[in-house]
Amino acid sequence: MSTNLQSSPICKLLLLFILQCIITTTTVAQAPAPAPSGPTNITKILEKAGQFTTLIRLFKLTQVGDQINTQLNNSNQGMTVFAPTDNAFSALKSGTLNSLSDQQKVQLLQFHVLPQYLTTSQFQTISNPLRTQAGDSASNKFPLNITSSGNQVNVTTGVMDTTVSNTLYTDGSLAVYQVDQVLLPMSMFGPQSPAPAPAPAKKKKSGADDDTPATDDSSPSADASGAVGFGGHVRGLIVGSVGVILFIALICL
Ligand SMILES: *[C@@H]1O[C@H](CO)[C@@H](O)[C@H](O)[C@H]1NC(C)=O
Ligand SMILES: *[C@@H]1O[C@H](CO)[C@@H](O)[C@H](O)[C@H]1NC(C)=O
Ligand SMILES: *[C@@H]1O[C@H](CO)[C@@H](O)[C@H](O)[C@H]1NC(C)=O
Ligand SMILES: *[C@@H]1O[C@H](CO)[C@@H](O)[C@H](O)[C@H]1NC(C)=O
Repeated sequence: MSTNLQSSPICKLLLLFILQCIITTTTVAQAPAPAPSGPTNITKILEKAGQFTTLIRLFKLTQVGDQINTQLNNSNQGMTVFAPTDNAFSALKSGTLNSLSDQQKVQLLQFHVLPQYLTTSQFQTISNPLRTQAGDSASNKFPLNITSSGNQVNVTTGVMDTTVSNTLYTDGSLAVYQVDQVLLPMSMFGPQSPAPAPAPAKKKKSGADDDTPATDDSSPSADASGAVGFGGHVRGLIVGSVGVILFIALICL
Protein backbone atom coordinates (compact mmCIF):
# COMPACT_ATOMS: atom_id res chain seq x y z
CA MET A 1 0.00 0.00 0.00
CA SER A 2 2.73 2.41 0.95
CA THR A 3 4.67 1.59 -2.22
CA ASN A 4 1.67 2.71 -4.28
CA LEU A 5 1.48 5.99 -2.42
CA GLN A 6 5.17 6.70 -2.78
CA SER A 7 4.96 7.09 -6.54
CA SER A 8 1.63 8.90 -6.53
CA PRO A 9 1.66 12.51 -7.79
CA ILE A 10 -0.37 13.62 -4.77
CA CYS A 11 2.45 12.54 -2.50
CA LYS A 12 5.01 14.44 -4.58
CA LEU A 13 2.82 17.53 -4.54
CA LEU A 14 2.44 17.25 -0.80
CA LEU A 15 6.19 17.00 -0.31
CA LEU A 16 6.72 20.00 -2.57
CA PHE A 17 4.14 21.96 -0.60
CA ILE A 18 5.81 21.05 2.71
CA LEU A 19 9.21 22.06 1.34
CA GLN A 20 7.74 25.45 0.43
CA CYS A 21 6.38 25.74 3.98
CA ILE A 22 9.79 25.05 5.51
CA ILE A 23 11.43 27.75 3.41
CA THR A 24 8.73 30.28 4.34
CA THR A 25 8.87 29.42 8.04
CA THR A 26 12.66 29.64 8.15
CA THR A 27 12.56 33.06 6.51
CA VAL A 28 9.99 34.30 9.04
CA ALA A 29 11.98 32.86 11.93
CA GLN A 30 15.19 34.55 10.86
CA ALA A 31 13.72 37.94 10.04
CA PRO A 32 13.60 39.49 13.57
CA ALA A 33 17.23 38.63 14.39
CA PRO A 34 19.14 41.45 12.61
CA ALA A 35 16.68 44.13 13.80
CA PRO A 36 18.48 45.42 16.99
CA SER A 37 20.83 47.68 15.00
CA GLY A 38 19.64 51.25 14.56
CA PRO A 39 19.88 54.26 16.85
CA THR A 40 21.34 53.57 20.29
CA ASN A 41 18.64 53.40 22.94
CA ILE A 42 19.76 53.80 26.57
CA THR A 43 16.46 52.36 27.83
CA LYS A 44 16.94 49.20 25.85
CA ILE A 45 20.50 48.81 27.14
CA LEU A 46 19.35 49.20 30.75
CA GLU A 47 16.39 46.87 30.25
CA LYS A 48 18.74 44.22 28.96
CA ALA A 49 21.12 44.71 31.89
CA GLY A 50 18.28 44.25 34.41
CA GLN A 51 18.09 45.78 37.95
CA PHE A 52 17.74 49.35 36.60
CA THR A 53 13.96 49.85 36.67
CA THR A 54 14.15 52.97 38.87
CA LEU A 55 16.75 54.59 36.64
CA ILE A 56 14.71 53.75 33.52
CA ARG A 57 11.64 55.29 35.14
CA LEU A 58 13.55 58.44 36.13
CA PHE A 59 15.14 58.76 32.69
CA LYS A 60 11.63 58.68 31.24
CA LEU A 61 10.14 61.06 33.81
CA THR A 62 12.88 63.67 33.34
CA GLN A 63 13.31 62.96 29.61
CA VAL A 64 17.06 62.70 30.21
CA GLY A 65 16.95 59.30 28.48
CA ASP A 66 15.71 60.93 25.27
CA GLN A 67 18.37 63.64 25.62
CA ILE A 68 21.04 60.94 25.74
CA ASN A 69 19.67 59.18 22.66
CA THR A 70 19.37 62.41 20.70
CA GLN A 71 22.76 63.74 21.71
CA LEU A 72 24.42 60.43 20.88
CA ASN A 73 22.96 60.68 17.42
CA ASN A 74 24.13 64.26 16.94
CA SER A 75 27.60 64.41 18.49
CA ASN A 76 30.88 62.69 17.80
CA GLN A 77 32.16 63.13 21.38
CA GLY A 78 30.03 60.23 22.55
CA MET A 79 28.67 59.88 26.07
CA THR A 80 29.33 58.12 29.35
CA VAL A 81 26.52 57.14 31.71
CA PHE A 82 26.86 56.08 35.34
CA ALA A 83 23.91 53.82 36.06
CA PRO A 84 22.88 53.37 39.72
CA THR A 85 21.16 50.06 40.42
CA ASP A 86 17.68 49.71 41.93
CA ASN A 87 19.39 48.86 45.22
CA ALA A 88 21.32 52.13 45.01
CA PHE A 89 18.07 54.09 44.77
CA SER A 90 16.37 52.15 47.56
CA ALA A 91 19.38 52.77 49.81
CA LEU A 92 18.66 56.52 49.67
CA LYS A 93 17.05 58.01 52.75
CA SER A 94 13.31 57.59 52.38
CA GLY A 95 11.70 60.58 50.69
CA THR A 96 14.94 61.82 49.14
CA LEU A 97 13.70 61.72 45.55
CA ASN A 98 10.33 63.20 46.46
CA SER A 99 12.00 66.11 48.22
CA LEU A 100 13.57 67.22 44.94
CA SER A 101 11.88 69.63 42.57
CA ASP A 102 11.33 68.55 38.98
CA GLN A 103 14.32 70.62 37.90
CA GLN A 104 16.50 69.04 40.61
CA LYS A 105 15.44 65.59 39.44
CA VAL A 106 16.56 66.48 35.92
CA GLN A 107 19.88 67.78 37.29
CA LEU A 108 20.38 64.69 39.44
CA LEU A 109 19.95 62.47 36.37
CA GLN A 110 22.10 64.73 34.17
CA PHE A 111 24.81 64.54 36.85
CA HIS A 112 25.14 60.84 35.93
CA VAL A 113 25.87 61.64 32.28
CA LEU A 114 29.16 62.90 30.81
CA PRO A 115 29.18 64.47 27.34
CA GLN A 116 32.12 62.36 26.22
CA TYR A 117 32.89 58.70 25.71
CA LEU A 118 35.34 57.47 28.33
CA THR A 119 36.92 54.05 28.54
CA THR A 120 38.08 52.70 31.90
CA SER A 121 41.70 53.27 30.89
CA GLN A 122 40.94 56.93 30.12
CA PHE A 123 39.72 57.29 33.71
CA GLN A 124 43.36 56.94 34.79
CA THR A 125 44.44 60.13 33.06
CA ILE A 126 41.30 62.27 33.06
CA SER A 127 41.61 65.71 34.67
CA ASN A 128 39.23 66.55 37.51
CA PRO A 129 36.65 67.83 38.17
CA LEU A 130 34.75 66.42 35.22
CA ARG A 131 31.96 68.28 33.51
CA THR A 132 28.65 66.46 33.56
CA GLN A 133 25.41 67.21 31.71
CA ALA A 134 24.24 68.94 34.92
CA GLY A 135 26.66 71.75 34.07
CA ASP A 136 28.86 73.89 36.32
CA SER A 137 31.58 71.75 37.88
CA ALA A 138 32.57 74.42 40.44
CA SER A 139 33.22 72.95 43.89
CA ASN A 140 29.81 73.99 45.29
CA LYS A 141 27.81 73.04 42.18
CA PHE A 142 28.20 69.76 40.27
CA PRO A 143 31.80 68.60 40.62
CA LEU A 144 32.53 64.96 39.79
CA ASN A 145 35.98 63.47 40.30
CA ILE A 146 37.12 60.17 38.89
CA THR A 147 40.41 58.51 39.75
CA SER A 148 41.54 55.11 38.71
CA SER A 149 44.42 52.72 39.03
CA GLY A 150 44.49 49.10 38.04
CA ASN A 151 40.95 47.78 37.86
CA GLN A 152 39.52 50.15 40.44
CA VAL A 153 37.67 53.28 39.35
CA ASN A 154 36.83 55.67 42.20
CA VAL A 155 34.05 58.19 41.82
CA THR A 156 33.59 61.07 44.25
CA THR A 157 31.22 64.02 44.32
CA GLY A 158 32.48 65.63 47.52
CA VAL A 159 29.32 64.31 49.25
CA MET A 160 29.83 60.60 48.69
CA ASP A 161 32.35 58.14 47.24
CA THR A 162 31.74 54.99 45.26
CA THR A 163 33.43 52.80 42.69
CA VAL A 164 32.45 51.59 39.24
CA SER A 165 31.29 48.04 39.87
CA ASN A 166 30.66 46.84 36.33
CA THR A 167 30.90 47.83 32.67
CA LEU A 168 27.42 47.34 31.25
CA TYR A 169 27.91 48.55 27.69
CA THR A 170 30.53 50.11 25.40
CA ASP A 171 30.32 50.60 21.65
CA GLY A 172 32.91 53.28 20.95
CA SER A 173 30.47 56.16 21.39
CA LEU A 174 28.43 55.20 24.45
CA ALA A 175 29.78 53.72 27.67
CA VAL A 176 27.47 52.66 30.50
CA TYR A 177 29.00 51.84 33.89
CA GLN A 178 27.19 50.39 36.86
CA VAL A 179 27.53 52.18 40.19
CA ASP A 180 26.10 50.84 43.44
CA GLN A 181 25.26 54.25 44.87
CA VAL A 182 23.38 57.22 43.47
CA LEU A 183 25.84 60.03 42.69
CA LEU A 184 24.79 62.92 44.90
CA PRO A 185 25.80 66.38 43.68
CA MET A 186 27.25 68.96 46.06
CA SER A 187 24.70 71.63 45.12
CA MET A 188 21.78 69.48 46.33
CA PHE A 189 23.29 67.33 49.06
CA GLY A 190 26.28 69.34 50.23
CA PRO A 191 26.57 71.06 53.62
CA GLN A 192 24.60 74.23 52.81
CA SER A 193 22.12 72.70 50.39
CA PRO A 194 18.35 72.88 50.93
CA ALA A 195 17.73 69.19 50.23
CA PRO A 196 18.21 66.77 53.13
CA ALA A 197 21.53 64.95 53.30
CA PRO A 198 21.04 61.23 52.77
CA ALA A 199 21.22 58.84 55.67
CA PRO A 200 24.36 56.72 55.88
CA ALA A 201 23.80 53.85 53.47
CA LYS A 202 24.04 51.07 56.06
CA LYS A 203 21.51 52.42 58.57
CA LYS A 204 18.03 51.20 57.74
CA LYS A 205 15.29 53.12 59.45
CA SER A 206 12.07 51.24 59.95
CA GLY A 207 10.41 54.38 61.29
CA ALA A 208 7.63 56.54 59.92
CA ASP A 209 7.44 57.16 56.18
CA ASP A 210 5.92 60.63 56.12
CA ASP A 211 6.65 61.24 52.44
CA THR A 212 4.03 59.49 50.39
CA PRO A 213 5.31 58.84 46.90
CA ALA A 214 3.19 60.92 44.56
CA THR A 215 4.52 61.95 41.17
CA ASP A 216 7.14 59.34 40.46
CA ASP A 217 5.51 56.13 41.59
CA SER A 218 4.19 54.74 38.33
CA SER A 219 5.03 51.07 38.17
CA PRO A 220 7.13 49.91 35.25
CA SER A 221 5.14 47.99 32.70
CA ALA A 222 6.29 44.58 31.58
CA ASP A 223 6.65 45.10 27.85
CA ALA A 224 9.22 42.35 27.47
CA SER A 225 6.62 39.56 27.44
CA GLY A 226 5.48 40.53 23.94
CA ALA A 227 8.86 39.75 22.41
CA VAL A 228 9.10 36.48 24.31
CA GLY A 229 5.63 35.50 23.11
CA PHE A 230 6.60 36.13 19.49
CA GLY A 231 9.76 34.02 19.84
CA GLY A 232 7.69 31.17 21.28
CA HIS A 233 5.21 31.46 18.42
CA VAL A 234 7.92 31.15 15.78
CA ARG A 235 9.44 28.21 17.62
CA GLY A 236 6.00 26.58 17.70
CA LEU A 237 5.70 27.02 13.91
CA ILE A 238 9.04 25.34 13.33
CA VAL A 239 8.33 22.44 15.67
CA GLY A 240 4.86 22.05 14.14
CA SER A 241 6.12 21.95 10.56
CA VAL A 242 8.85 19.45 11.42
CA GLY A 243 6.13 17.24 12.89
CA VAL A 244 4.05 17.50 9.70
CA ILE A 245 7.07 16.68 7.52
CA LEU A 246 7.80 13.54 9.56
CA PHE A 247 4.15 12.53 9.31
CA ILE A 248 4.03 12.97 5.50
CA ALA A 249 7.37 11.19 5.11
CA LEU A 250 6.03 8.22 7.11
CA ILE A 251 2.95 7.94 4.89
CA CYS A 252 4.81 8.38 1.60
CA LEU A 253 7.86 6.16 2.15
C1 LIG B 1 13.80 52.73 23.33
O1 LIG B 1 13.45 51.47 23.88
C2 LIG B 1 12.28 51.50 24.68
C3 LIG B 1 12.10 50.16 25.34
O2 LIG B 1 12.65 49.12 24.63
C4 LIG B 1 11.09 51.90 23.81
O3 LIG B 1 9.93 51.97 24.61
C5 LIG B 1 11.37 53.26 23.18
O4 LIG B 1 10.32 53.60 22.30
C6 LIG B 1 12.68 53.25 22.43
N1 LIG B 1 12.98 54.60 21.97
C7 LIG B 1 13.34 54.86 20.71
C8 LIG B 1 13.65 56.28 20.40
O5 LIG B 1 13.45 53.97 19.87
C1 LIG C 1 19.63 61.02 13.91
O1 LIG C 1 20.28 61.94 13.07
C2 LIG C 1 19.83 61.91 11.73
C3 LIG C 1 20.69 62.87 10.92
O2 LIG C 1 21.33 63.82 11.71
C4 LIG C 1 18.35 62.31 11.71
O3 LIG C 1 17.86 62.26 10.40
C5 LIG C 1 17.56 61.32 12.58
O4 LIG C 1 16.20 61.70 12.65
C6 LIG C 1 18.13 61.28 13.97
N1 LIG C 1 17.47 60.24 14.74
C7 LIG C 1 17.11 60.40 16.01
C8 LIG C 1 16.47 59.22 16.66
O5 LIG C 1 17.29 61.44 16.62
C1 LIG D 1 40.27 54.53 45.45
O1 LIG D 1 39.66 54.50 46.73
C2 LIG D 1 40.30 53.58 47.62
C3 LIG D 1 39.47 53.55 48.88
O2 LIG D 1 39.11 54.83 49.30
C4 LIG D 1 41.73 54.04 47.84
O3 LIG D 1 42.38 53.12 48.70
C5 LIG D 1 42.45 54.08 46.50
O4 LIG D 1 43.76 54.58 46.67
C6 LIG D 1 41.71 54.96 45.53
N1 LIG D 1 42.34 54.85 44.22
C7 LIG D 1 42.51 55.90 43.43
C8 LIG D 1 43.21 55.64 42.14
O5 LIG D 1 42.11 57.01 43.73
C1 LIG E 1 38.40 66.90 42.73
O1 LIG E 1 39.59 67.17 42.01
C2 LIG E 1 40.01 68.50 42.12
C3 LIG E 1 41.25 68.64 41.22
O2 LIG E 1 42.19 67.63 41.50
C4 LIG E 1 40.34 68.81 43.59
O3 LIG E 1 40.75 70.17 43.69
C5 LIG E 1 39.10 68.58 44.43
O4 LIG E 1 39.40 68.75 45.79
C6 LIG E 1 38.59 67.17 44.21
N1 LIG E 1 37.33 67.00 44.92
C7 LIG E 1 37.06 65.91 45.62
C8 LIG E 1 35.74 65.88 46.31
O5 LIG E 1 37.83 64.96 45.70
